[in-house]
Amino acid sequence: MTIRDLTSANIDAAATLWHQAGLTRPWNSPELDAQRALDGDTSTVLGAFDNDRLVGTVMVGHDGHRGWVYYLAVDDSKRGTGLGKRMMAAAENWLHENGAVKVQLMVRSGNDAVLGFYEHLGYEDAEVQVRSKWLV
Ligand SMILES: CC(C)(COP(=O)(O)OP(=O)(O)OC[C@H]1O[C@@H](n2cnc3c(N)ncnc32)[C@H](O)[C@@H]1OP(=O)(O)O)[C@@H](O)C(=O)NCCC(=O)NCCS
Repeated sequence: MTIRDLTSANIDAAATLWHQAGLTRPWNSPELDAQRALDGDTSTVLGAFDNDRLVGTVMVGHDGHRGWVYYLAVDDSKRGTGLGKRMMAAAENWLHENGAVKVQLMVRSGNDAVLGFYEHLGYEDAEVQVRSKWLV
C-alpha cells in the first residue's frame, strides 16, 4: 500500500470512492472539490493505492490558522484493516509539516457511527457549532 498525493488523473476514482462511502451531496461537485484541493498551495488530497487501485483518501488543507480534514474514505473491502487510521496519520503529518498546530474536522449530522473512530484517534468534541452561508 502506497500513500501519496493524488493527481488529476485520479479524481474520477476518488469521486467514485466518495459516492460509495456516502460522502457526496447533490449540490457539491466532488470532482471540483478534489481539483481545487490539488490546485491549491496549502491543500491536497492524499490517496492510498493498492497496486494501482485507489482504496483510501483524505483531503487536507491549512487555512492559515487551523488544519482541516475532509473526505476521509476507505474502500469497503479495506475497512477494519487500519487504513483509516493510517490515512488520518498521513493527514496529520501533512498538516504538521505545512505549519498547522491543530487539526479539525466536521462530521455530518447522521454520521454518528464515525464518532467512535475519531474519538479512538484522540479527536475530542470541540464544543462548537458550525454555521455556513453560500457565496455563489
Ligand atoms: C471512517 C472510516 C474511514 C474508518 O476506516 P477503517 O479503515 O475502517 O478504520 P480502521 O481500521 O483504521 O480503524 C482504526 C481504529 O479505529 C477503531 N474504530 C473504527 N471504527 C470505529 C468506531 N465506529 N467506533 C470506535 N472505534 C472504531 C478500530 O477498531 C481501530 O482500532 P485499533 O486502532 O485499536 O485497531 C471508514 O469507516 C469509512 O470510510 N467510512 C465512510 C466514510 C466516512 O464516514 N468518513 C468520515 C467522514 S467525517
